[in-house]
Amino acid sequence: MAKIEIEATRRRVFAIISHPDAGKTTLTENMLLAAGAIHQAGQVAARGEARRTRSDWMKIEQERGISVSSSVMTFEHMELIFNLLDTPGHEDFSEDTYRTLTAADSAVMVLDAAKGIEPQTLKLFEVCRLRDIPIITFINKFDREARDPFDTLAEIEDKLALDVVPMQWPAGSGRRFKGVTDLASSDFLRFERPEELKDLSFIANKTPLAGDEINSFFDDDDFLEEYREEVELAVEYGEFNAQSYYEGHMTPVYFGSALRRFGVLELINALAQFAPGPQAEKVKKAGQDLEITPASKEVAGFVFKVQANMDLNHRDRVAFLRLCSGEFKRGMKLKTAENKTVSVHNPILFFAQDRELADNAYAGDVIGIPNHGALRVGDSLSESGKVRFAGIPNFAPEILRRARPIDPLKAKHLRKALESLAEEGVTQLFRPAIGSDMIVGAVGALQIDVMAERIKTEYNLEVLFEVPPYSTARWLSCDDPVMLDAFLSKNRNNSGEDLDGAPVFLAKSTWDVGYAQEKNPDIRFLTTKERK
Ligand code: G4P
Repeated sequence: MAKIEIEATRRRVFAIISHPDAGKTTLTENMLLAAGAIHQAGQVAARGEARRTRSDWMKIEQERGISVSSSVMTFEHMELIFNLLDTPGHEDFSEDTYRTLTAADSAVMVLDAAKGIEPQTLKLFEVCRLRDIPIITFINKFDREARDPFDTLAEIEDKLALDVVPMQWPAGSGRRFKGVTDLASSDFLRFERPEELKDLSFIANKTPLAGDEINSFFDDDDFLEEYREEVELAVEYGEFNAQSYYEGHMTPVYFGSALRRFGVLELINALAQFAPGPQAEKVKKAGQDLEITPASKEVAGFVFKVQANMDLNHRDRVAFLRLCSGEFKRGMKLKTAENKTVSVHNPILFFAQDRELADNAYAGDVIGIPNHGALRVGDSLSESGKVRFAGIPNFAPEILRRARPIDPLKAKHLRKALESLAEEGVTQLFRPAIGSDMIVGAVGALQIDVMAERIKTEYNLEVLFEVPPYSTARWLSCDDPVMLDAFLSKNRNNSGEDLDGAPVFLAKSTWDVGYAQEKNPDIRFLTTKERK
């Protein structure tokens, strides 16, 4: 195997999805601890404080209390390199989550053992399903009273239409939690409640489930007998099928307690063993449909996230590039599909506590590219500038607001701020055909709040958000440009363009969209737009 192929095969890019409070942060932190990427608890949640400053970027993160580190966290385990991509927990950011998931090759779904599938789990899962991303399930908090695990599995099958295969089976929960049996080996992994949380041992002691040795650990014969019967039933779920997992139809299920560090190592091992590494990607190259593989020679990747205003004085941004092929070398010139050239002199690799300049990077790596606004979410980057990835879609906004500066002389400033935030993907931006106000679009209300807050703190602008006469937007497309132009001029009051200049229909209601569609059957009113 060529070096680039070997390197790509070592990478695992994944994201964690969960309902708030299910334990994503705790699990993340304990994965980093288990892999030795951090050495002290409290470092993921307590942003900044106790960390050493290793680079300018980290200093800025500390000063501003924001964390780029949580966008990508890299750790190594069993000769593999794991890149954990952070996804926002709130449903209002599902668009953001979708973008992040386009850069992940698999996901871990964390459920609270007492709560099962919660609304946000469902919503995030639906986002995963759009790409049929392979999912490993971790049922967390077994050190607390849990629901019957058979019920939780039934709920996953039912609500997510996903086949489940338990890879382990838990014995009791809460005070009675004894551990889990590894169903493949029939080894029982004992849960020994750590004396204190500072104890950083991740390795569980093993005892065979069969035989007498386990008796002393259970101290209640009926409980053990019942448990053995449960294990027999759990085996009936059948065997793990890698293909079905890859295709997003089946999820292997693990159990544990992130807080008590139980099951965390097994979960990382599962990712190492089953989660797919970088795969071939469908792209257009010079207009032709083709696939690039991680071993393809040309360096290519796409920007899935932009973090702006790292340094308020310089308006810098970091674009997160997910590499999909080739061997990237520091100093390389890459081009966007629009033929913009970016010289990548200071590519950043993100370790849990450190930033490093990347001298080389391969498919499955995520590098941060500092820039001054040249790069946007969804940009494809390659050596030839001819590679175009399928693109990261925008979703039709469910909330529209007209943005006006309180000081009319600041209109230009506001426009710049809105454009910049839209390029970062915080919100969408539309320019109505009539009038000079900008219309901001969001999938959830929180997006608007975050944007308002950032305009205030980062751009020092007071802005008014008013309810405009329209409530939703659709991208327009038509095979006949003349027909589209005619529609646009007839509907000037209800049309405009987005940040890329693509035509949009701004409608009072979805009923209006339906009506316009009926009257104009040759025009497509689209709820998602992929950047061309
Ligand atoms: P999130 O990122 O998914 O929102 O969840 P987070 O890890 O912040 O966990 C939410 C709460 O659940 C935290 O408690 C955390 O300590 C607790 N937790 C996470 N995993 C486990 C587990 O395996 N067992 C138990 N018993 N608790 C767990 P908190 O009281 O809200 O915060 P904190 O004061 O403990 O930080």
